[in-house]
Amino acid sequence: MAKGKVDALLGIVFGDEGKGKVVDWFTPQYNIVARFAGGPNAGHTIIFDGKKFVLRSIPSGIFDKGKLNIIGNGCVIAPDLFMGEAKEIEQAGYTLTNRLLISRRAHLILPTHRLLDRAYEAAKGKKAVGTTGKGIGPTYSDKAARIGLRVGDITENFAEKYARLKARHEQILSELHFTDYDIAEEEKQWLEGVEYMKQFQLADTEMVINQALNEGKSVLAEGAQGSLLDIDHGTYPYVSSSSTTIGGVCTGLGIAPNKIGRVFGIFKAYSTRVGAGPFPVELFDETGDRLRDIGHEYGAVTGRNRRCGWIDLVALKYTIMINGVTDLVMMKSDVLDTFDTIKVCVAYRKGDIVTDTMPYDTEGWEAVYEDLPGWKAPIDGLRKKNDFPKAFSNYISYIERALQTPISIISVSPDREATIILKDFTKA
Ligand code: IMP
Repeated sequence: MAKGKVDALLGIVFGDEGKGKVVDWFTPQYNIVARFAGGPNAGHTIIFDGKKFVLRSIPSGIFDKGKLNIIGNGCVIAPDLFMGEAKEIEQAGYTLTNRLLISRRAHLILPTHRLLDRAYEAAKGKKAVGTTGKGIGPTYSDKAARIGLRVGDITENFAEKYARLKARHEQILSELHFTDYDIAEEEKQWLEGVEYMKQFQLADTEMVINQALNEGKSVLAEGAQGSLLDIDHGTYPYVSSSSTTIGGVCTGLGIAPNKIGRVFGIFKAYSTRVGAGPFPVELFDETGDRLRDIGHEYGAVTGRNRRCGWIDLVALKYTIMINGVTDLVMMKSDVLDTFDTIKVCVAYRKGDIVTDTMPYDTEGWEAVYEDLPGWKAPIDGLRKKNDFPKAFSNYISYIERALQTPISIISVSPDREATIILKDFTKA
């Protein structure tokens, strides 16, 4: 929260680390909260005053009425889903129009992008990525191919531009023999959403952010997905299609690297993954089921079962390096309360090869563990580190030592209040 700086809060595993809760908690300390990558494939859950919201495209700072929220140019936005999300927040009593800016450079997810997402997944068969089906990959593909539609396009000759790209998509769909859809049905709400978006400030948000920084204001960049789903540094090809790591903050908001302040890396006290792809720590046994049940590990967007396993220090070491994480934020520690032994993955093994660095091809590796004693006590009611059971404090120190990075914040239950500061990062 240093003046004139952008702090980043990044998921540093496979997403679903609990970013929404932490951003919501952080927001009072910042002037602006901005999303820089991804789209409605995200589902950031925020719980307060007995109410639960799942945010997909709108930044999690939206519930703090005095703050400006920005959907940056690195994001992709589906007008129909955006409209649904925005209306739900407005119905709960939060006005959005003057507090939410949308970058004119953000790309639009068309109904046909979603169809293409499904068609490409179907064509991949057993090699399917297990996408959220929100059209993310095809939209970023069109962006890179320089044929995409941007938010700024909706105010000028939009019908013509839309028809052209739609026709191109329909041709590909027909080549893929993916013809079982009703385009009029698919685009009804979507076109309504396009009209709805016009009441918002469609802005050159990179100018707004840089001007705010020059005035000494502070910005929180809210990550989406996780570093291991990054298009460059994730477990390719089982990744999303955006830059979810720190470089994405610069390109996705239009800010220079020297404007980055602290980098908060958020992870859970255990691991989860949604969708297909390598996951060396995955547990297929009763322990995995227990982690899923206790942690309610079901997708916020798709409702799918999340794959569960112990914490993976090999992966965390890698993503801390890629992102330059200054502070770790450990979530859902209370999920481990009842386990006798807690395992931590310290290396990967494939045949005779053992490595503690992230391999190029993460497929086919199995986890090598060390065992730590569980604390066997409920910690969800604790609010001070001096009250932690010894075995829990040991778990924290073990991870800090292995990762050479301080755990500055931990969360021990979904409530806003259950967020405990372990290290004063404001002075570091
Ligand atoms: P896509 O982003 O919908 O293209 O999906 C690509 C991969 O990223 C799939 O394995 C998804 O399950 C995963 N994914 C995308 N968004 C999220 C998220 O917010 N949390 C967890 N996994 C995600």
